[in-house]
This record gives sequence, C-alpha cells and structure tokens, in this order.
Amino acid sequence: MDAIVDVSNVVLETERLILRAWKKEDLNDFYEYARVEDVGNMAGWMPHASIEESEKILNMFIEEKKTFALVYKENNKVIGSLGLESSMRKEVSEEFANIKGREIGYALSKDYWGKGLMPEAVKAVIEYCFKDQQYDFLLCGHFNRNHQSRRVVEKCGFSFLKDMVFDTRMNTKEDGKLYVLMNKKDE
Ligand SMILES: CC(C)(COP(=O)(O)OP(=O)(O)OC[C@H]1O[C@@H](n2cnc3c(N)ncnc32)[C@H](O)[C@@H]1OP(=O)(O)O)[C@@H](O)C(=O)NCCC(=O)NCCS
Repeated sequence: MDAIVDVSNVVLETERLILRAWKKEDLNDFYEYARVEDVGNMAGWMPHASIEESEKILNMFIEEKKTFALVYKENNKVIGSLGLESSMRKEVSEEFANIKGREIGYALSKDYWGKGLMPEAVKAVIEYCFKDQQYDFLLCGHFNRNHQSRRVVEKCGFSFLKDMVFDTRMNTKEDGKLYVLMNKKDE
C-alpha cells in the first residue's frame, strides 16, 4: 500500500544538497532545467514548452506535497526534483498490498549530470523513508534505454524486481525495469 507522504515541512541535508518542499519562487530555476531536451525525455515527459507549463507543474508539486526540490548548496539554485510517487502499479499491487512504501522518481538539470548528485539525494530520501517514516519498501523504475538512471538505482542498493512496460506522459509505451529496496528494520 502507499505510505502517507507530506514533505511540506521536511528538510533533508546532504554534503552538497538541501532537499525541501517546492516553493513558488523556484519557478525560474525549474523552467531553466525542465525546458532542456533530454531531461524529461528519459523520464517520460516532454521538455517544458513555456514557463506557464512549468508553473502548472510546480503548483501541482506544492499541492501534492510528495516531491522534493533539490537545492545545490554552492549556488542556492534548484537543480532537480525527487518525488515519492504511488507504488501501487497493477503489476505489483498484490505483492505490496499489506506493507507500506512509495515509488521514487527523479530528474536533474543536465548541467549537473555525472557528479553523483542524484545518488546522494536518493540515499538521503531512503534514510528519511526507512528510519524516520518507517516505510517497508521503496520502488524505482527506469526505461531500458536509460542507463544513467540504472546506475543511480544500482549505486543506491536497489534490486531488480520485474521487467515492465511503462505508460509515459507522452502517451507512448516504454520497455523498462522496476527495482525494489526493502527496509531491513532489524539491521
Ligand atoms: C538519471 C539522473 C538523475 C542521474 O543523475 P546523476 O546525478 O547524473 O547520476 P550520476 O552522477 O550517479 O551518474 C549516473 C550515470 O550517468 C552517466 N553519466 C554521467 N555523466 C553523464 C553525462 N554528462 N551525460 C550522460 N550520461 C552521463 C554515467 O553512466 C553515470 O554512471 P557512472 O557513475 O557509473 O559513470 C540524470 O541523468 C537525469 O536527470 N536524467 C534525466 C531524467 C531521468 O532520467 N530521470 C530518471 C527517470 S527513471
């Protein structure tokens, strides 16, 4: 089942990042990275065509309270997002019906790829979900063509769960893989 989530008052800090709820003032930073080709494409969404489109999605982030903004400490810019989405995909809903968790999804500004920033953010969110919120599991998926995201899940200790066909926000289908990380509470 889906764990309850509300990140609106949560702040997580890593060596290089602050993870906190999205704010209206983040709009320019969001549009700056979300309009770039290749950022959304690997995650199943089109580059934002206008700042109004980014604003709509930013408002949704604020209302839904399940997505962190990633702030790069060095320049105080918002450079990415990390969401705790529903884990109740039909392919696994029975398996995870009686334990609580979420599926993580993330995207990072292309200017910051390859510095290990998303694994750093994901590890902080794992710690928050497992130690603070006592989730039982986290899921994470990626398209087969997305080797960058595969490396993130590997670096963060997830295990392969299932081959999947994902429905994208562009109304297409993509072959991919779903991974799981269980909370081993007694370790
Ligand atoms: C997936 C993503 C979040 C990875 O974040 P990151 O902080 O760059 O992750 P890492 O630095 O650990 O790099 C992961 C892999 O990306 C690859 N990579 C690194 N720099 C790269 C670059 N400039 N261009 C393309 N790939 C690159 C490398 O294979 C790296 O693995 P390695 O460390 O074993 O060499 C980021 O690439 C991204 O936002 N992609 C677009 C959105 C997306 O795919 N979201 C996930 C949907 S499932």
